[in-house]
Amino acid sequence: GAPVELDLASIPDGGQIKILWRGKPYFVRNRTEAEIKAAQDVDVKTLRDPQPDSARVKEGKAKWLITAANCTHLGCVPLGNQGDYGGWFCPCHGSHFDTSGRIRKGPAPANLPIPQYTFVSDTRIRIT
Ligand code: FES
Repeated sequence: GAPVELDLASIPDGGQIKILWRGKPYFVRNRTEAEIKAAQDVDVKTLRDPQPDSARVKEGKAKWLITAANCTHLGCVPLGNQGDYGGWFCPCHGSHFDTSGRIRKGPAPANLPIPQYTFVSDTRIRIT
């Protein structure tokens, strides 16, 4: 399929949308300042799948988190703004993801993956 372009301007602060691309769902989240700070303040060494928040967002665009929306355990779609870490909660078997989409508790082995994308303007992305 062709790359998709997505305008983020209509997603409110703290809001999230789910899009489908090539038959797979992705989350696009406009993180609040508190959510960004929570994601940045984690000691990366304590994580199951150690990744700093800065490696999961584009430089200067920390409010925008774009992840695949299938749980890395068995593929369910987690629920946003839920769970012990305020990111996502997967109701299938109880995985908790933080506001960076990183696995923090439960059976999922890895963070929610980040797709390949670029910003083509201040509020527009192209997923490739
Ligand atoms: Fe998400 Fe099992 S599919 S916890």
